[in-house]
Amino acid sequence: MAATYVSVVLLLSVLGSASAQLSTGFYSSSCPSLSSTVKPVVHSAISSEQRMGASLLRLFFHDCFVNGCDASLLLDDTSNFTGEKTATPNQNSVRGFDVIDKIKTAVEKACPGVVSCADILAITARDAVAILGGPNWDVKLGRRDAKTASLSGANNNIPPPSSSLSNLISKFSAQGLSRQDMVALAGAHTIGQARCISFRSRIYNDTNIDSSLATTRQSNCPSTSGSGDGNLAPLDLQTPTTFDNDYFKNLVNLKGLLHSDQQLFSNGSTDSLVKTYSASPSKFASDFAAAMIKMGDISPLTGSQGEIRNNCRMVN
Ligand code: HEM
Ligand SMILES: *[C@@H]1O[C@H](CO)[C@@H](O)[C@H](O)[C@H]1NC(C)=O
Ligand SMILES: *[C@@H]1O[C@H](CO)[C@@H](O)[C@H](O)[C@H]1NC(C)=O
Ligand SMILES: *[C@@H]1O[C@H](CO)[C@@H](O)[C@H](O)[C@H]1NC(C)=O
Repeated sequence: MAATYVSVVLLLSVLGSASAQLSTGFYSSSCPSLSSTVKPVVHSAISSEQRMGASLLRLFFHDCFVNGCDASLLLDDTSNFTGEKTATPNQNSVRGFDVIDKIKTAVEKACPGVVSCADILAITARDAVAILGGPNWDVKLGRRDAKTASLSGANNNIPPPSSSLSNLISKFSAQGLSRQDMVALAGAHTIGQARCISFRSRIYNDTNIDSSLATTRQSNCPSTSGSGDGNLAPLDLQTPTTFDNDYFKNLVNLKGLLHSDQQLFSNGSTDSLVKTYSASPSKFASDFAAAMIKMGDISPLTGSQGEIRNNCRMVN
């Protein structure tokens, strides 16, 4: 009896330690209208611009990989503070901050001073995926907002599109994410756009690329560095505003847009996962949702750590 009790307590504390005190019901009494407040704003942002769903999803990834999911990404630079927005993976690339501001304003109106910007990013990412046809999941909540940001963390932790498979595996592993988590999460590239600067060397120099895709993309992405750097192309050439498993079908056909995308199917250790997801939309959907929950568990600030920011762009 006593031994059973001790082992149950031990088990619970082991399970609990990975995710601190996050829980799906965190705001159920302090902000019962939270999800019904956020979702319509996400919906209207996506209705005005379909790409915005992708941009909002990406914000959560770029936040979580730098000192955990703590809204550090949202902090603007000030004269005495450098944020993460000018880091190489973010500058001229991450977008959607104005939508996050709108959501925060709506949430503050409903429940003043209660809901963190870090949790808003988690809910928004989930809603964006669900609205575009992807899986839905219960989001764990209770994160608090950082009072600092890390430009160097953003530069070091978020992998560039030139990454090799082994670099990708090590960047995800450093965050406690497995190969399977990584391949599932990379399926986020079933939506959204990339700039020419992110795929130029792939379409001119990689050999494991479908030649018609290379030709098509070259027509709007000149080989000369500095020319047309910002020209956009869809990460998933089939259905760039639908959250499906076409990304993996593309990889199997050597039609990944980024060098890093195609690394996941390039005679390496992740090929079989890519094949599995290319053949099973439901397996991809459930593994993606599980990996998003796991990514959302990265080093949250909880309890009395950090703060609940009044404005997501600045510390209180
Ligand atoms: C596996 C490593 C990853 C690499 C190397 C990578 C790299 C990139 C790059 C280079 C772009 C285009 C940026 C630009 O040209 O402006 C991009 C876009 C995007 N990434 Fe990733 N990414 C990775 C993983 C992820 C993950 C885990 C997620 C989310 C779960 C994600 C979500 C997105 C989305 C949705 C877009 C399109 C954003 C938009 O259209 O605004 N990526 N990524
Ligand atoms: C910079 O720091 C000083 C001293 O802490 C503070 O008074 C000031 O408001 C800060 N400026 C900005 C733009 O945050
Ligand atoms: C392709 O590779 C060559 C040789 O390494 C290099 O000089 C050239 O700049 C590359 N082209 C692009 C578009 O990356
Ligand atoms: C895998 O290796 C084969 C044989 O070397 C090669 O023809 C094929 O293009 C490679 N596939 C990828 C995706 O790199």
